[in-house]
Amino acid sequence: MITAEDFDVGAAWHVAAPYDFLRRLRREHPVFRSEHLDAHVLTRYGDVRAAYGDPRRFSSEGSLTISRSLAAETRRVLGEHGSFLSSFVANVDPPAHTRLRRSVSRAFTPRAVAAMERRFRDLNEEVLDRVAPHGGADLVAEIAHVPSARLTARFIGVPEEDEDFVREHVRDWFQLFLSPQPPERQLALAGSFLAYLDYVDRLVAARAAEPRDDFVSLMTSLIGTELSHREVVELISTILLGGNDTVPNQLGNSVLRLLREEVWPVPPELLRTAVEECMRIDGASLGSFRHVTADVELHGVTIPEGSLCLLSTDSAAHDEDVFDAPEEFRPARRNADAHMTLGYGIHFCVGAALARLQLRTALEVLGERLPRLRLAPGAPPVAYRTSIVGRGLTALEVEW
Ligand code: HEM
Repeated sequence: MITAEDFDVGAAWHVAAPYDFLRRLRREHPVFRSEHLDAHVLTRYGDVRAAYGDPRRFSSEGSLTISRSLAAETRRVLGEHGSFLSSFVANVDPPAHTRLRRSVSRAFTPRAVAAMERRFRDLNEEVLDRVAPHGGADLVAEIAHVPSARLTARFIGVPEEDEDFVREHVRDWFQLFLSPQPPERQLALAGSFLAYLDYVDRLVAARAAEPRDDFVSLMTSLIGTELSHREVVELISTILLGGNDTVPNQLGNSVLRLLREEVWPVPPELLRTAVEECMRIDGASLGSFRHVTADVELHGVTIPEGSLCLLSTDSAAHDEDVFDAPEEFRPARRNADAHMTLGYGIHFCVGAALARLQLRTALEVLGERLPRLRLAPGAPPVAYRTSIVGRGLTALEVEW
């Protein structure tokens, strides 16, 4: 029998579909300590939402820097960059957060996001022009990643010829900090990460000398007034990560669900709610970490001051107190957008509108171009990349 001690968000079975297990936890252990994570876990919707809404007690300070799993030699190689992300917007509390968030939000105006729709549609069309004649593909590697990575790179201001470099290095960085790796692999990833930081540094210098109409130039123009140099480098490198993996992961999870449920192509009038329902039921993020700043009493459990907490949005998204028949996929579900896959409160995903636009556009273009899309018969069972914060398929073999 699986018990609360088995809670291990990094394990493959857990990333896949641990819903019976999570249901039992919500009922019997709404709050518990996980040895695997060295953290307390909140599993009920109401508690997760309340914790997101209480940044004084549930602090984001240092919550992303979960570098305890790094070997001593890796830390030595990383030097001061071992505490990388220490000034990233998602990793700090007000008042620093308020200032950083205001700066970064300048780039994500509704107008700027809407202007990206045409470009994103074209990027999807280009990819499909290339792969459509093949009759089948790994949707994750060959279709989902390229348009999102390209769009983000252009929005940020990464020159086209550097896109592959950035894509590879961002992935290495993600692996280094967010999924457990053996020491020798950590060292290789750390080298790649340092080369990437150096690249971003040079990009900032280039835009400072010659500004363009892009995110790097906008943020660079704020150095010395609103932002420090380090804050700008961390913002740029991390937003590249946000755009490189999260949206393609969510798209892969969503297409798998839609094909299995035989909702393909998605009818235009259902696109908006179907995207939300996919994010709810198969979210690309599993939760957020926080540190408690004082002892917190919850459901008879004391979470001691300083403890790390995982707010399990994955469990919250299946909470029967909020979502009727939560295991059922209902593409027209009225309150699907109450999920917290994009976070909630002051740290709510700054790229949410862009993420939603990409998901809707990609599903629309895929539906138009590949109306007979189906899972490839005989393909190996789907597998997920293991990570403590994200859910994404290793591959999704499809044909049309
Ligand atoms: C489906 C895709 C995405 C998912 C599931 C996702 C998920 C999240 C979540 C859960 C948070 C809250 C973190 C916390 O409270 O600790 C967050 C914050 C953030 N996201 Fe996203 N995200 C996505 C796409 C994007 C994109 C496309 C960008 C930018 C290009 C982006 C940039 C950010 C940033 C900068 C923050 C920090 C905001 C703050 O702390 O105020 N995300 N995201």
